[in-house]
Amino acid sequence: MAPRKKIKIAIDGPAGSGKSSTAKRVAEELGYLFLDSGAMYRSVTFLVLRDGADPHDPDASRAAAQKARFRFKRDDRGERVILNGEDVTDVIRTPLVTNNIAPVAANPAVREILVKKQRALGKNGGIVAEGRDIGTVVFCDAELKVFLMASIDERTKRRARELRARGIPVDFDRLLHDMKRRDQSDSTREHGALKIAPDAVHIDTSELTLDEQVAFVVEQARKRGA
Ligand code: DC
Repeated sequence: MAPRKKIKIAIDGPAGSGKSSTAKRVAEELGYLFLDSGAMYRSVTFLVLRDGADPHDPDASRAAAQKARFRFKRDDRGERVILNGEDVTDVIRTPLVTNNIAPVAANPAVREILVKKQRALGKNGGIVAEGRDIGTVVFCDAELKVFLMASIDERTKRRARELRARGIPVDFDRLLHDMKRRDQSDSTREHGALKIAPDAVHIDTSELTLDEQVAFVVEQARKRGA
């Protein structure tokens, strides 16, 4: 049997399409690094807000991106995001952070800094990275690109379950409205917009279980030598 390669796997899609859960499990099965690029944009937004700065101020968000040092680790609570030595895994997922990401993620200087960090993490392959621009910008050379989709209702239901599981109260209609707004800003920003790479494999996850999604991506990865 040919030796297994350490390929790059890019998983993109809108919020709630199942990217994180799929990418995490695929990374575990293949023994690869899992990279949650959204956690980086969330962390920079968190730093800006904590400094009392305005997320619309491009200099403030660029400075926050420059001072952000990331470490990703897996412990008995799952994947943890360590920002400048502090565990921010939970706080970066609060609605306050989520609702202020758009101007930070639209800032080209922030994107340039974070894309560089993402490429550095993936330089030796053996990575499953998920986000919006992984297959189109960050790892254009990824051996496997996957685009995950699901209906807006299904995605909002999933996000509501996730937030409730964290003890965050949810108003479904409000969340649906926020998800639509986020879809809009994710797909229309000038830099790093959510686009489907022409060579991506599409998966509609509305009717699939997580196990089925994971099995499909792992099978595609194996076909490419992983
Ligand atoms: O995947 P997520 O919901 O945690 O991402 C949070 C936000 O970060 C998302 O609304 C847009 C931004 N993002 C981005 O601009 N580029 C990425 N590669 C990943 C996320």
